[in-house]
Amino acid sequence: MIRVEVELGDRSYPVLVGAGARRELAALLPGSARRVAVVSQAGIDLAVDSGREQRRFDIGDGEAHKDIATVAGLCSEWARWGLTRGDVVVAVGGGLVTDVAGFAAASYHRGVPVVHVPTSLLGMVDAAIGGKTGVNLPEGKNLVGAFWQPHGVLCDTDALATLPPRELRSGRGELAKYHFLTGDDLLALDLDARIAEAVRIKARVVAADEREDPSNRRGRATLNYGHTLAHALETTGRYDLRHGEAVAVGLRYAAHLAHRLGRIDGSRVAHHDAVLSAYELEADLPAGADTARLVEVMGRDKKALDGLTFVLDGPDGVEVVPEVDPTVAADVLDSMR
Ligand SMILES: NC(=O)c1ccc[n+]([C@@H]2O[C@H](COP(=O)([O-])OP(=O)(O)OC[C@H]3O[C@@H](n4cnc5c(N)ncnc54)[C@H](O)[C@@H]3O)[C@@H](O)[C@H]2O)c1
Repeated sequence: MIRVEVELGDRSYPVLVGAGARRELAALLPGSARRVAVVSQAGIDLAVDSGREQRRFDIGDGEAHKDIATVAGLCSEWARWGLTRGDVVVAVGGGLVTDVAGFAAASYHRGVPVVHVPTSLLGMVDAAIGGKTGVNLPEGKNLVGAFWQPHGVLCDTDALATLPPRELRSGRGELAKYHFLTGDDLLALDLDARIAEAVRIKARVVAADEREDPSNRRGRATLNYGHTLAHALETTGRYDLRHGEAVAVGLRYAAHLAHRLGRIDGSRVAHHDAVLSAYELEADLPAGADTARLVEVMGRDKKALDGLTFVLDGPDGVEVVPEVDPTVAADVLDSMR
């Protein structure tokens, strides 16, 4: 079992990575907890044993269920059951479950502890770490939420055995991102160690910039590497892409854009291609992608303060780069076809 610490003073917490990590749950729970509300989804069979009085609350599958109604439903059920502030919520699922259960835990009784047991690769390397929780509105994704750091995270890699192949690939897209945030060769590691390394990178970034200070160009915003185009592809909604698949396209685009702007050389672009192909990620622009529309949506990305803002690789590593000329952004998109 690999242990990584997210260092946040008196809110620091451990992340355990490895086969069977779920068995550490009972030892990890706060001593005050008498009842354990397990939030999960039909189809997720990872059994957790808290050693306390425990009840399972399933929520719906798919982004349409990541909404305030689901959070309200959970809180009502917890209230009827008698869950108190001293008890604990345990989220067992992918990023949708940990985001929803985390936000419900942040709100219920003004905050009850939550432990995340991510069951998707994307959840393990990203969603369950760092305390961002929230739900969607009809007006947009993740528009309502809270920072609510978990009490601990158990990345049980046994869970990956039942994860559908497409979801695994989506997780690999998010894992690929971490290859460019430090100089380390993640491919040289076995999968458990690679997941732990991604967690370690994210933990360091979160510890240094917990709330994503907009003036910090090398802080938490760097975790959005590859995400500007990915979000635009997802927002326009016309392409059948899972999040990590869209990130893979976004990573390739970010490399080409950084190259065009003279920030990286050809060998670094080739390194991006090599990592993406090692993860068997198809990183081509989807057929029929509409350049003008994508550039328009990227201009409205919530990270954009003035003109087109990207997170790009460069001589000092990955950082936020504002005021990229939209015609250059469009030209590089066209060059990828
Ligand atoms: N909070 C954050 O920092 C953060 C970061 C990245 C993504 N997210 C959020 O995460 C969500 C995406 O997460 P995701 O990619 O895990 O998708 P998901 O949670 O929707 O899970 C995808 C599918 O896989 C199934 N599944 C999960 N684990 C399984 C397992 N072990 N066996 C069988 N089936 C399993 C789920 O039931 C679902 O059908 C999005 O809502 C996104 O906004 C949050």
